[in-house]
Amino acid sequence: MCRMFRAENIQTDCLKLNNMKKIRFLLTASLLSASILHAQTKKIFSESATAKEQRMAWWTNDRFGMFIHWGIYSMAARHEWVKHYEHMTNEEYQKYFDLFNPDQFEPSVWAKQAKAAGMKYAVLTTKHHDGFCLFDSKYTNYKATNTPAHRDLVREYVNAFRAQGLKVGFYYSLLDWHHPDYTMDDVHPLTQTDTSQANYDRLNKGRDMRKYRQYLRDQITELLTNYGKIDVLWLDWTWGKDARRGKHAEDWGAVELLKLVRQLQPGIIVNNRLGLEDYADGGDFVTPEQVSTAELEKYKGKTWETCQTFSGSWGYYRDENTWKSHRQLLDLLITSAANGGNLILNVGPTARGEFDYRAKNALDSLAYWIHANGRAIYNCTYAPGEFKAPENTKLTYNKSAKRLYVHVYDYPSSGELVLPGYSGKICYAQLLNDNSELKFAPSRESSSDLTLQLPKQQPKYTVPVIELILK
Ligand code: GLC
Repeated sequence: MCRMFRAENIQTDCLKLNNMKKIRFLLTASLLSASILHAQTKKIFSESATAKEQRMAWWTNDRFGMFIHWGIYSMAARHEWVKHYEHMTNEEYQKYFDLFNPDQFEPSVWAKQAKAAGMKYAVLTTKHHDGFCLFDSKYTNYKATNTPAHRDLVREYVNAFRAQGLKVGFYYSLLDWHHPDYTMDDVHPLTQTDTSQANYDRLNKGRDMRKYRQYLRDQITELLTNYGKIDVLWLDWTWGKDARRGKHAEDWGAVELLKLVRQLQPGIIVNNRLGLEDYADGGDFVTPEQVSTAELEKYKGKTWETCQTFSGSWGYYRDENTWKSHRQLLDLLITSAANGGNLILNVGPTARGEFDYRAKNALDSLAYWIHANGRAIYNCTYAPGEFKAPENTKLTYNKSAKRLYVHVYDYPSSGELVLPGYSGKICYAQLLNDNSELKFAPSRESSSDLTLQLPKQQPKYTVPVIELILK
């Protein structure tokens, strides 16, 4: 498993430029160190811990969401950062705007696919780093309504996902590579070939971050006013504190922006990428991005959501073929719940507005598994310390139902599974996919262990699940 991950990461990394690695490093390092290692004492709001818990309850229980990265970069079909990677000017990038025509866009189909795969909420890119808006904003012409699409695509998404009973979230990029007032930094497409100060100065002439800050506020206000109740806001992203040519909380007016968000949508859940790590309430959850399952353990006890792609890219990437296997995707989902966190899995629809066959296949396989085993994910968290995971398994636990779930990664050919130290702790055992009883008895080797009798033939799931009803 781990080996597969590493191989995949290496191939994925080949797609990226060096400075991308630098960003990831800075970003991850800052998020981690700030959120996990520092004691955060300052607060922006006066919300109590219980009130926060209540506000976050649906999200913590639902565990599984869909990320959707979609925009005019889907036409290039070679990463949502294509403008940066290929150092394009606005003029060079304009062809995608002029030709964007998603004739197959039917968000109700997306919503049904998400729901079937077991996802309970979704987060769509309303604007990504390229600055293009999928929504009808008063404050820019750079929006879907002015492309051949001629529609507010965000509105259609909101309506469709809500109709399927899914919670609705907005991703919004703090970076903007199109806005005339947005100043230069070390990832801006126009600084990639000439990093001299003279070039920065030349390009920054006439740009005014104060105006851009107002633009952020105006657009966030539109998004959080014109579309009804919005459940999640995913703001992306802020450089690490030491980055000299990056942008920081002050550049966004982050504290004031977050206050505005909470005033417009008091129940909303906001991620942690505004650069407000010094505040205990500068974000509701941490966002480990594209990390391996082994790394997820260190987030136990935090409120977190790992964001992951099917392949290496968030936006549709036609020629990228290092897609995660069904087993890897299941492992991400199970390991997230097993460490008390969420998984938001990304789909990058094509420029015609569809999930491609690879995404559909991946979602269908998840749908098959979740239909039978969803009870071991929703409302679940890590098991109490007294329960050790049996060999080659991972545990999830539903506290209120008092049920423990054993996810069997390597099915024992003997048909026997030893539950170490479980004697006297369980009253019933069954396979989760069909509620068929599993007999158990004290183990021959140790009276504190139990041995479960599993069917000789593995149930037709890549990772079958055993449900233990605790005493
Ligand atoms: C990164 C990337 C971005 C992607 C996001 C998702 O910050 O810049 O392309 O949208 O991660 O987590």
